Parts: sequence; C-alpha cells; structure tokens
Amino acid sequence: MLAKSETDREREFHFTDRDFQSVRKKLYEQAGISLNEGKRDLVYGRLSRRLRAHRFCDFSTYLEYLESPDAGPELVQFINALTTNLTAFFREPHHFDYLAKTVLPETMRRHVADRRIRFWSAGCSTGEEPYSIAMTVKETMPSLQNWDLKILATDLDSNVVESARRGRYAAQRIEGMPRRRADKWFHSVGAGAGEQVRVDPALQSLITFKQLNLMQDWPMTGSFDLIFCRNVVIYFDKATQRKLFDRYADILHTGGYLFIGHSENMHKLSDRFELIGQTMYRKLG
Ligand SMILES: C[S@@+](CC[C@H](N)C(=O)[O-])C[C@H]1O[C@@H](n2cnc3c(N)ncnc32)[C@H](O)[C@@H]1O
Repeated sequence: MLAKSETDREREFHFTDRDFQSVRKKLYEQAGISLNEGKRDLVYGRLSRRLRAHRFCDFSTYLEYLESPDAGPELVQFINALTTNLTAFFREPHHFDYLAKTVLPETMRRHVADRRIRFWSAGCSTGEEPYSIAMTVKETMPSLQNWDLKILATDLDSNVVESARRGRYAAQRIEGMPRRRADKWFHSVGAGAGEQVRVDPALQSLITFKQLNLMQDWPMTGSFDLIFCRNVVIYFDKATQRKLFDRYADILHTGGYLFIGHSENMHKLSDRFELIGQTMYRKLG
C-alpha cells in the first residue's frame, strides 16, 4: 500500500479508485469495452493528456464534465484515448489466403446473378486490415468489371478512421511485405527518416470508411458475404460477445463468413456458425 500511495503522490493529477471505476463504467456503457482492474496505469496515462488539454486539475472534475450536456465532443476524445488500435498489414495471413483461394471464388459463384459482393472490416483501426482485403481482392480478381464489390471499414475511434481514410503510412509499416506487392500498391511520399507511403487510389476506391460503434444501431442495409471482426471482441465481456455474434449472423448471408482474432473464439457463444478453419466461421442456414 505504501508503494501505491507514494505513486499517487508523485502523480500530476489526483486519481482515486472511485475515478478509475467511473472510467470503467463509462467506457463499458459507451463502447462495450471491459477494462480489467490491471489497467489503472494505462487509464491514468491516456486520460492525463485529456485533462491537460482542458486544464482540469483532477480526474473527478474531468469525469463530472463528461456527464454535462455539452460534453459530446470530449466524450469522443475520451473513447478515442482508451481504444487499443494495434494492427498490421496482412496480420494473421491465413485469413487472406483463405479469402483468395476459397471465399472469393465461392462468393462469385453464389452471386453470379446479381454480381453484388459486400465485405465488412468491423474494427478496422488505421486501415491496414481493409487495405489488405482490397489488395487480396484486386490480386485475385484484377478486373472487377461488371462486379459491384465493396468493402465497408468501420471503427469506433474517429481518429483511426480518419487516418485509415487518408491511407498514408510510415514506410516501415510495409517493410515485411513482398517487394512486388509493395511496389504495386504503395507510392513513396518523402524520403529519409520520415518517409511515408500512400496507398494506391484503386484500393481506396473499393473501401468506404465510416465511424461506427458496434454497440449502437447499424445503418447498413443489405447482407454481407464476409465480416472481419478480428481482435475486437477480446475487449468485450461474454454477454456482449454473444449479442454481437448474433447480430453478425443476422447481417450475413447464409453461408457467409466471419473471421475473428487469433485469441478469440465462439465457444458456447453462438450456434449459428460452423467452424471451418482456424478462427474462421461460416453462417449456418
Ligand atoms: C486491436 S484493434 C484491431 C484492428 C484490426 N481488426 C486487426 O485485427 O488488426 C481493435 C479495434 O477495435 C475498435 N473497437 C473497440 N470497441 C469498439 C466498438 N464498440 N465498436 C467499434 N469498434 C471498436 C478499436 O477502436 C480498435 O481500433
């Protein structure tokens, strides 16, 4: 206890356990995200920036402000500060292999009449996931002529959605990518330490980026053929995961696919999907 109270004294802002519990409650209500008890330092670090920006002198005043009627824009920043956005191009590569070899040919056969294909990257973070989907699509079906194929990419965090839409990345982000792929889809902007690349507009034209909280109503009409929701439900409790998987089943075509993250599973959470491979599911009829 001594160590903890000394840490508190060293802190720039007064941050009590009650404040921490209020943050947890607010984040759960707003975003469905369950922060465990061990995240106290993370919360302090991330929200301290918000207190500084507004010149609040302690957490309880900041949290009171979040309850006020004009706190809407700050509530967005509060959520943005607490999301975890770790991602990478072609993360969990077996999903993209399966997309190229199985999902795309099978989905094209299914939609031979209406030629309409819809994919959704739910929790797209800074865009590496939907751009990886778009690269896979364009490399597998170079001519999309006469196909109406669109990728919806959404995230709760408005900052990452903006960054994803812009499609600019530090050059190191594509270092591990095969040369041919990198040269084809990325264009260098600026050189030296701050070197950046921008994604080819042909990829951007396939994707619609939107801010969307998965806990709220979804404005989309029509069904999806494939949903990537990877490394997102890990932040939700089981009850929230169960509801979300049910909503995914509602919005997928029968036979449509759901890919989840490497440490996630659907065990005892839904009987509307069959497991077809490592973290890959298919909606049952
Ligand atoms: C760790 S990233 C995963 C990014 C990508 N799917 C991947 O696997 O590389 C998790 C993302 O889920 C988003 N997220 C968390 N809660 C959400 C919610 N309620 N609605 C929508 N997105 C959410 C976060 O903002 C974050 O960008």
